[in-house]
Amino acid sequence: MTAIRIAEVARSFGAVRAVDRVSLDINEGEFFTLLGPSGCGKTTLLRMIAGFCDLDHGAIHFGERRVDTVPPHRRNAGMVFQNYAIFPNLTVAGNVAYGLKARNVPAGEIGARVARALKLVHLDGYDERWPHQLSGGQLQRVAIARCLVIEPEVLLLDEPLSNLDAQLRVEMRREIRLLQQSLKITAIYVTHDQEEALAISDRIAVMRAGRTEQVGGPTEIYQRPATRFVAEFMGTTNLLSGIAVDGPVGGTAKVRVGGQDFALPAGTARPRDAVTFSLRPEALRLIAPGEHAPSGWHTLEARLAGVEFLGVLTRLDLQLADGAPLRAATLDLPPEAALRRERITVAYDPQRVTVLSKP
Ligand SMILES: Nc1ncnc2c1ncn2[C@@H]1O[C@H](COP(=O)(O)OP(=O)(O)OP(=O)(O)O)[C@@H](O)[C@H]1O
Ligand SMILES: [Mg+2]
Repeated sequence: MTAIRIAEVARSFGAVRAVDRVSLDINEGEFFTLLGPSGCGKTTLLRMIAGFCDLDHGAIHFGERRVDTVPPHRRNAGMVFQNYAIFPNLTVAGNVAYGLKARNVPAGEIGARVARALKLVHLDGYDERWPHQLSGGQLQRVAIARCLVIEPEVLLLDEPLSNLDAQLRVEMRREIRLLQQSLKITAIYVTHDQEEALAISDRIAVMRAGRTEQVGGPTEIYQRPATRFVAEFMGTTNLLSGIAVDGPVGGTAKVRVGGQDFALPAGTARPRDAVTFSLRPEALRLIAPGEHAPSGWHTLEARLAGVEFLGVLTRLDLQLADGAPLRAATLDLPPEAALRRERITVAYDPQRVTVLSKP
């Protein structure tokens, strides 16, 4: 297993700073994801790690070995490209054998290694098929087999599931994760799909305009976003701003927003601090008349402005006293009676409030 160290790496195309001094330390055997919107530099960074794109600045190490000055075929990294790049004029076996031939592996060894790689991705028996005879999911597996056959120390995957339908994407991401764990290989995975990143990764780097905004585990990135951008990119949230004042006993501070007091977790703000905080819709719970909120929770009075039933959850559009919007989401469909009321009470655990450290 190989640790990867990316230090101050940069690359521009004309005036565009595609990757702008990124530093990352990726652990041995880690499944590490680069997540961000289109054009934020994910592919450029991955191509620099693979050796298909020169660096303007910085260094990349695989373990102790500096690799950014080494040609791609000597880096021992296998890359699955955004569009698979399967050769249409070669059979499945021919495609998988390609990298071995290019590395002058003896002919006698090639057959067995190709067979082993195809078995790993559940394509045994498909050797003689042509690419046009395969489904999207099968083509994607050929791309992974072609990459694994060279026994790389590092696996680089650029949006390998983007051409597949939603259900197959979920199946394949699980298979990729299992394969990576069984081979105990260090992997860097690129996606712009937040759910995919959360599901598959040990750690995630959220990228924006060539830089990393935040690096952390899936729960940390989702529950403790450091910036407005990360909070909003990782799903729907309420972003609220105000000035902190002294709170109730116990060290919690309060912030007045929209004519209501919001409680912050103890120690996250001092009086007179200007704060921006994130409160996820699913952290808010509808409280029925006469029902008590769980102890330690805070309640808010709001007007119910809209209800959207989405199957697995129901979205509630609320308005605070001064009309400021607040979004809530519940797994259980709220009772009809609750939805007919104009004024409702919602409650939340102050621990679910995240004060942005870099608003
Ligand atoms: N060869 C190139 N020549 C000029 N500009 C480039 C080149 N490659 C990338 N760029 C620019 O660099 C920026 C980052 O591109 P990159 O392909 O790394 O983004 P990405 O995060 O992979 O996006 P996507 O999610 O759409 O694949 C973009 O503005 C892009 O237009
Ligand atoms: Mg890309």
